[in-house]
Amino acid sequence: MFADKREDFPTLCGDNPPAYLDNACMTLRPKTVIEAIRSYYEETPGCGGRSVHRYATEVSRKMSNCRTKIGKMFNARESGEMIFTKNATHSLNQVAKGLSWEKGDIVLTSDREHNSNLVPWLQLEQEKGIDHRVVHSMPDNSFDLEAFETACAEAGSKLKMVSLSHVGNLDGVAIPVKEAAKIAKDHGAMVCIDGAQSTPHMKVDVQDLGIDFMAFSIHKMMGPSGMGGLWGRMELLENMRSITSGGSTVDTSHYDSLTWSKPPSRFEGGLGNYAGILGTNAAIDYISQIDLDAVHEHEVSLNRVMSSILKDVDGMRIIGPEDPAKRGGICSILFDTIDSHDIAILLDEAADVMVRSGMHCVHSWFNGKGLDRGSLRASAYLYNTEDEVRLFAETLVEAVEALG
Ligand SMILES: Cc1ncc(COP(=O)(O)O)c(C=O)c1O
Repeated sequence: MFADKREDFPTLCGDNPPAYLDNACMTLRPKTVIEAIRSYYEETPGCGGRSVHRYATEVSRKMSNCRTKIGKMFNARESGEMIFTKNATHSLNQVAKGLSWEKGDIVLTSDREHNSNLVPWLQLEQEKGIDHRVVHSMPDNSFDLEAFETACAEAGSKLKMVSLSHVGNLDGVAIPVKEAAKIAKDHGAMVCIDGAQSTPHMKVDVQDLGIDFMAFSIHKMMGPSGMGGLWGRMELLENMRSITSGGSTVDTSHYDSLTWSKPPSRFEGGLGNYAGILGTNAAIDYISQIDLDAVHEHEVSLNRVMSSILKDVDGMRIIGPEDPAKRGGICSILFDTIDSHDIAILLDEAADVMVRSGMHCVHSWFNGKGLDRGSLRASAYLYNTEDEVRLFAETLVEAVEALG
């Protein structure tokens, strides 16, 4: 469906490109993104938002453009609600550590969170005495809205925050954010969404979802590594403490006092990753001209191919709902006896297929189920083809039959 896009990605050009199926970790980058990064270093290597010479002015202009574009893409009320960070992890830490907490405040997450949306809350539990609670999913990993509503009701007036991943990196399962946010709001909680796995694959409208914060990861959206973002409602950002105070976070300072800058500057301390921001600018241009509904459809059609080959093979099972349409482009496989890293190395060396193995930073889910071997995860994106996922699945079946 997106075959013509393959030539935009250098690693997919040439005679025998590898089958890159680790997109949930990091997507490939189109030439325009690489070119934007090159042009920063070779043409305008200045710093944004500070100096007033030519290089810096050009960087500041592009940075401001980029902020506006991302704000529009997610339907933020104003571009000042968009904060550049180094990744989704930093964004989630900014929310967790920037808000004020009282002992006993309750934070709800699901049982399928990436460590980035678990560890900051566990840290607050250890350091500030908040009460972090987990809402368990249905047996097939779908979100249990009823259990969630009960957990909100049981938390009562102590419920302060609900922080959930929109789409799980473990299994590709999307949760009904809008419904969950409405329930959380009815119980007086703030809602933070980890959008790392949703923003590359679907249209996200933060107003329509009715949420308060959203973390996202630019390197999963065809942008540079070391780039992420945080969106927050301005009225909440205005009262949030910065976890990176320093240069550009204050309007002025004296020996004994300071005046904080308004968001987003308050949260962007120190010289930034300007090459990354210019690359982000190009990535947002690239992703904005793509129909994300069609991307989702394409990923599901590839997942149908992988899943139909793998679903009945002895010695393995796919994590999550049986219907691939409920797992987007992710096919994550548990093995009875084989180590997922061994298979991942074999796939790479024998078939030029790159996938992820291990616990995908969702250790809590594996540990909670007593699974100590992790899983093998193939994750497709717009440039992947049916031949690639077929190669992955067929090689995997052969490997499991040989090793199992
Ligand atoms: C669901 C989810 N949340 C958070 C993260 C962390 O993202 P980042 O590497 O941008 O910090 C990831 C990365 O894989 C993820 O999949």
